[in-house]
Amino acid sequence: MEIIVAKNSGFCFGVKEAINTTMNVLDEYKEDIYSLGPLIHNNQAIERLEELGLSVIDNVDDINYGKIIIRSHGVPLDVYKIAEDKDIELIDCTCPFVRKIQKKARDCYDRSINVVIIGDPNHPEVIGINGWCGDSAYIINNEEDVEAMPELENVCVVAQTTMTSEKFNNLSKLIDNKSTNTEICNTICNATKVRQNSCEEVAKKADAMIVIGGYHSSNTQKLVEISKKYCGNVYHVETVDELPMDDFKDYETVGITAGASTPTWIIEEVINKMEELLEDGMVSLDKGDIVEGEVITVGEEEVVVNVNYKADGIISKEELSSDTEADTKDIVSVGDKIDVLVLDTNDGEGNVVLSKKQVDNEKTLNDLETSYENGEVVSAKVNGVVKGGVTVNLNGIRGFIPASQVSNSFIKDLETLVGETLDSKIIEFDKSKNNIVLSRKEVEAKEDASNKEKVWSNIKKGQKIKGEVKRLTNFGAFIDIGGIDGLAHISELSWSRVENPSEVLNVGDEIEVLILNLDEEKERVSLGVKQLTPHPWDEVEENYKEQSIVEGKIVRILDFGAFVELEPGIDGLVHISEISDVHIEEPGEVLKVGETVKVKILNIDADERKMGLSIKEADPVQNEAIKKYSSSNDDDEGPTIGDRLGDIFK
Ligand code: F3S
Repeated sequence: MEIIVAKNSGFCFGVKEAINTTMNVLDEYKEDIYSLGPLIHNNQAIERLEELGLSVIDNVDDINYGKIIIRSHGVPLDVYKIAEDKDIELIDCTCPFVRKIQKKARDCYDRSINVVIIGDPNHPEVIGINGWCGDSAYIINNEEDVEAMPELENVCVVAQTTMTSEKFNNLSKLIDNKSTNTEICNTICNATKVRQNSCEEVAKKADAMIVIGGYHSSNTQKLVEISKKYCGNVYHVETVDELPMDDFKDYETVGITAGASTPTWIIEEVINKMEELLEDGMVSLDKGDIVEGEVITVGEEEVVVNVNYKADGIISKEELSSDTEADTKDIVSVGDKIDVLVLDTNDGEGNVVLSKKQVDNEKTLNDLETSYENGEVVSAKVNGVVKGGVTVNLNGIRGFIPASQVSNSFIKDLETLVGETLDSKIIEFDKSKNNIVLSRKEVEAKEDASNKEKVWSNIKKGQKIKGEVKRLTNFGAFIDIGGIDGLAHISELSWSRVENPSEVLNVGDEIEVLILNLDEEKERVSLGVKQLTPHPWDEVEENYKEQSIVEGKIVRILDFGAFVELEPGIDGLVHISEISDVHIEEPGEVLKVGETVKVKILNIDADERKMGLSIKEADPVQNEAIKKYSSSNDDDEGPTIGDRLGDIFK
């Protein structure tokens, strides 16, 4: 809670002078001291003065000896005469500002100028001023009074010193309209205005306002009015005992002001009481305490925290977070409620020294211990590679993962993990030594097992599924289908003959495969790739016509002929009798696997997936080449048919 005391609250200059003078007189004479009317509008102050020997009288005639103190409001002029006649000493404490109005009224009276006083006709100050002009003044307190006033010539308008400017301006204008030759003297005391402005200023900031002063004091009532205009919780009290203290526990800002007649000691009592409440609500701090605080300011190098203590707490950047690279504003914001450790209750400049980092680290350690005990997975950010493994950051706490525990699979370079966050399990925990050892391998193994289980329950024979090529061997490709590896045999990769899987697949390829077979017990899945593409023989009659000449590649040579592939998956047989016009003992004499040749399609049997081809009927030039090669190749020397066919088809 914050307490704001309005400047210029309490005794004004005139009242202060009157009180001081009275105290001095009481101190000197002790008895037969009287005040004509209560010295100020404050019962408590009056009671105290009475205890010191001051008696209040209403009329000079009430006494025949002694001393009479005239209060700051002043008195009618005849009071002086009566006192003089009775030989009673008057101690005149009329405020100089009031005296000035009295003199003005007297001067007007002497010059037959009508005096109009804007003010409360029952207020002693107004009664006093009127007494200086033979009680002839017109006293105006509202518009009706102006209406009732006769039309006047030669008028002087003055104001009660505590009148509001607004009321004075309105009424003096109406009076001016109704009279001729009007002199308007604004005699409102500035002390009142200044006090009211201070009150307004504080009321605008406060959740609650305490206005101290007599219930019958007009200037105090005016302060109450102003406070209510700007603040929803206004408490008008005469003494500290009237304050409902419980109400104030919930207010963050409390304003205090006091009327002109409120003694300083009453104001001080209220302030002290509120400060006690403030202190009651404050915690007592000791080194090592952990308390909650609210962030008040966030600077680049330090953060200021209200810990409900008489002094604010400071957290240096080093004590804010384990992440020393982070900006302070990324860690906390104004208004955040945070737990802090008290490192020192006084840094030499009165501030409390705090640490957030140490509280956070302690909490993290406790959380990690719980995770260790429960076998839970924690997030570990790799921040470096050391001998034998990697170091990790566990929310500000250092941990270690041995190389053997980093992964289920082999990791060639541990540096590649720096910056990565690994889900890991704590396998060793020693809080006292800050020793935390983790394993990511265990988590991976568990994840793999659960993935596998999930995959097995979701796959079935004949299902199409996406996979990633993990490994190629000479007999096929291992493809990961979401946690388990299936094998696509080399014969299942393509409709055409494949010598090596690398001809059709690369490691890392993401492809769709067909599940051909599965055996959960043996953990085997057979996959097919070619099955997801149409078989070329299905479209052979649209793409190939009998008697047409096409090119093909010799893929196999047998005793009775050679197979020529027209496209992957479609090959036909060139019978040995269809190779050349000349006699050939074996097809291999003139043909070679891999060579490209022209062939004529003799017949197509789509149902049986067979095709009869002829080389000798395909191209005369090619025929010539074969013949020549055949005749020159008796001794197995000279250029191969492949060379010459190559020449032909270049
Ligand atoms: Fe005098 Fe002004 Fe106070 S007139 S008594 S100083 S309010």
